Amino acid sequence: MQHNVSLRNLNTFGLESRAQSFEEVKSVGALTAIIKNPELRGTPKFILGGGSNILLTQDIDALVIKISIKGIEKVKEDDDHIWLHVGAGEMWHDFVMYCVDNGYAGVENLSLIPGTVGAAPMQNIGAYGVEVKEVVETVETISSEHAEPKVFSNEECRFGYRESIFKHELKGKCIITGVLFRLNKKPVYHVAYGDIQKTLEEMGVQTLSIKSVSEAVISIRKSKLPDPAEIGNAGSFFKNPEIPEEQYNRLKSDFPALPGYPASPSFVKVPAGWLIEQAGWKGYRDGVIGVHARQALVLVNYGGGSGEEIKLLSQKIQQSIEEKFGIRLNAEVNFI
Ligand code: EPU
Repeated sequence: MQHNVSLRNLNTFGLESRAQSFEEVKSVGALTAIIKNPELRGTPKFILGGGSNILLTQDIDALVIKISIKGIEKVKEDDDHIWLHVGAGEMWHDFVMYCVDNGYAGVENLSLIPGTVGAAPMQNIGAYGVEVKEVVETVETISSEHAEPKVFSNEECRFGYRESIFKHELKGKCIITGVLFRLNKKPVYHVAYGDIQKTLEEMGVQTLSIKSVSEAVISIRKSKLPDPAEIGNAGSFFKNPEIPEEQYNRLKSDFPALPGYPASPSFVKVPAGWLIEQAGWKGYRDGVIGVHARQALVLVNYGGGSGEEIKLLSQKIQQSIEEKFGIRLNAEVNFI
């Protein structure tokens, strides 16, 4: 176990924060041993995955446990599907590439999303018309207090838009150690999302394949989203708000260009990136932090910024969106 460890390279925002103590675990057995260790019983524990969806605003007075449980294993298959068991510590994009290379469909639209496999069900990651809940069969966990194993069925995970039981009722109570995925051997392509269709055409793709869809997604993401290795960020900072139809119609008369997509019954999902851009924040820079110039939904740390500064900027944005549109933006990123 290490003490007073910098987490700067373990969060995609690249924020400085120190862990009181730190341990990396490579197996469920090692994780269980830490939780059951009587000497560590009273020690608060903080679980870290890929660090791609957190805003570290302070030091962490806890034992930070980095989950590095690896492995992709074929569990069973039939004519239509293949079931893969994947360790929570595998990098999400490496798993996607494994599926693309082997011809297993279902996650190609989720190419190049930063973070780990274990974090994917936590916030039901999604992009370009696909959410991970569509391919999750079960999620394996152990309880944070006594290391009791529990397997959650897809239904029990209560997935929603960037939501799951692990972000709410079970927050801090259980640790995801592995995920069982059911992938398709007979691909069903999701290319309706505007940008994908256009990009596939630009790429000159005549016949769709898992690989071409993945390549289109990668190309779109690279063109819009900053690479965390170059500019610190955590992807979309806010969730796209869902507003009542009535409110949407009222706003639409004031802002005729306001985009909207059908959400739950009588609600309309509005792109937060559009609202933030209209409020004049796109490309805004204050010293070493700011709003990305190509995607207003992404807050960035150009280097040396603090979590506190980014939090303050996010609050200013929230306030300005509330004043201009009467819409409350909620963060997608977890504040620590
Ligand atoms: N838009 C603007 N200005 C901007 C950004 C967006 O006007 O600066 C408007 C445009 O009208 C555009 C629409 O917003 O057509 C949608 O933009 P985009 O396709 O870039 O998607 P998004 O709604 O901003 C969501 C996810 C992303 C995901 C993309 C693609 C959320 C919070 N974000 O973003 O997920 O990659 O769709 O499916 O739902 C993430 O969660 O970290 C993430 C990157």
